[in-house]
Amino acid sequence: MGKPLPHDLISQASGLIAGDELKKAALDYSRAMREKVERDQGGLLSVFDGWFARVVRRLTEFDASHPWEESVRENAAQSPAAEDLQWDLLRLRLFLDRWRRGRFVTFAERERSQIHYHPRFGTEFSADVLLTCQGAPSLMRWRGQPLMKNVFDFAMYPALISDVRPRTIFEVGSGLGASAAWFADHMTFCGIDGRVHSVDRAKAQMEHPRVSFYQGDCRSPEKLFAPELLGTEPHPWLVVEDAHQNVVAVLQEFHKFLLPGDYLVVEDSDVKRDALRSFLGAHPGSYLVDTRYTDNFGRNATCAADSIFVRTKADERAFRLTLAGAEGDKEIAFATSSPGLPR
Ligand SMILES: C[S@@+](CC[C@H](N)C(=O)[O-])C[C@H]1O[C@@H](n2cnc3c(N)ncnc32)[C@H](O)[C@@H]1O
Repeated sequence: MGKPLPHDLISQASGLIAGDELKKAALDYSRAMREKVERDQGGLLSVFDGWFARVVRRLTEFDASHPWEESVRENAAQSPAAEDLQWDLLRLRLFLDRWRRGRFVTFAERERSQIHYHPRFGTEFSADVLLTCQGAPSLMRWRGQPLMKNVFDFAMYPALISDVRPRTIFEVGSGLGASAAWFADHMTFCGIDGRVHSVDRAKAQMEHPRVSFYQGDCRSPEKLFAPELLGTEPHPWLVVEDAHQNVVAVLQEFHKFLLPGDYLVVEDSDVKRDALRSFLGAHPGSYLVDTRYTDNFGRNATCAADSIFVRTKADERAFRLTLAGAEGDKEIAFATSSPGLPR
C-alpha cells in the first residue's frame, strides 16, 4: 500500500464514481458488508473488509460538505504522511464504481470502463502478476498432468461449478486432459451428476470415468461435437473455449445450443477481443459478463478477462430444441426464464 500511482491512472480516475455518489455508494456498501460479515463470516472481517471499514472511517472524518477527492488531495499536499490515503481512495473508487453497476454487466460496458485499468488485460494490477500466476517455472498439476490454469482460475472455476452446478461441461482445447479431469472431479465434489466432453486436434490420452475425450479441429467447428450430443446433453452447461482457433465460428456453433443460465468462458481473451465483439455484436442482449467470477479477486483476475458469460435469453432454435428434448416442465421453465440477477 502507499506506492505511487501511475500518472495515467490518476488522470483517468476523473471518470470514476465521485462526490456525493461516491459517499452514498460507500455507505451502501458498508451496510451490505456488515450484513455479509454477520451472515456469512461469523462476524470475522476479511483483509478487504477491514481495509474498507478503515478507509471509510478516515474519509468520514473530513468536512462532510466537501467531496472526498478534494479533501484527500488537500490533505496530501499539507502532509506527505497522508499520501497513502490517495492510493486508498483510488482503490475505493475503482471497487465501488464496479460494485454499483451490479453483478451482470454487458461486454460493451466492460469495454468502456476499461479505460481505468490495464490497457491489455483490463486488470487493476499489472502484467507481472499474470506473467507468473500460471506457475513459474512449473505449472500446477492435476492427477499427475500439467494443468494450464492460473491461480485465480484455480479458485474461480470450482466456485462457478459449485454455484451453477453444470450438468454438462464442453471444453474446446483439452491439452493433456488435466483440465477436463479437474472439471469432472469438481462436479463430483459438488455432488453433480454430470459429464465433461473435451476435444482437441489430437485426442488427449488421459482417462477419467466422467470425461469423454474426442479428436476434432476448430477449423470445422460443426464437427467438434456430434449434433445429437449437443441436442441431448442436460443443461445447465459450462462451455470453455481454450483452443484459440477460429473463435467466432466455434462460439457461433455453441450459440445454437446454449440456453439461458448456461455459462460460456472464453479463456485468454486479451487476444480475442475482436472475436468477442464480433460474436456478441451478432447476438445483442444474449450474454452478460458475470462479474462475480471475473472480479472476485480484483477486476479481471482471470485469464478470461470480461469473458465469463451467462446466456440470458434463448433464440428460437435453442428454444425449439429444448421443447423437443424436454424432460418435463422444469426444463421448459428453465429455458424461458432469465437467470436471477443477485448482486
Ligand atoms: C492452452 S491449450 C489447452 C489447455 C487445457 N485446456 C488446460 O487448461 O490444461 C490449447 C489446446 O488447444 C489445442 N488446439 C489448438 N488449435 C486447435 C484446433 N484448430 N482445433 C482443436 N484444438 C486445437 C491445442 O492442441 C492445445 O492442446
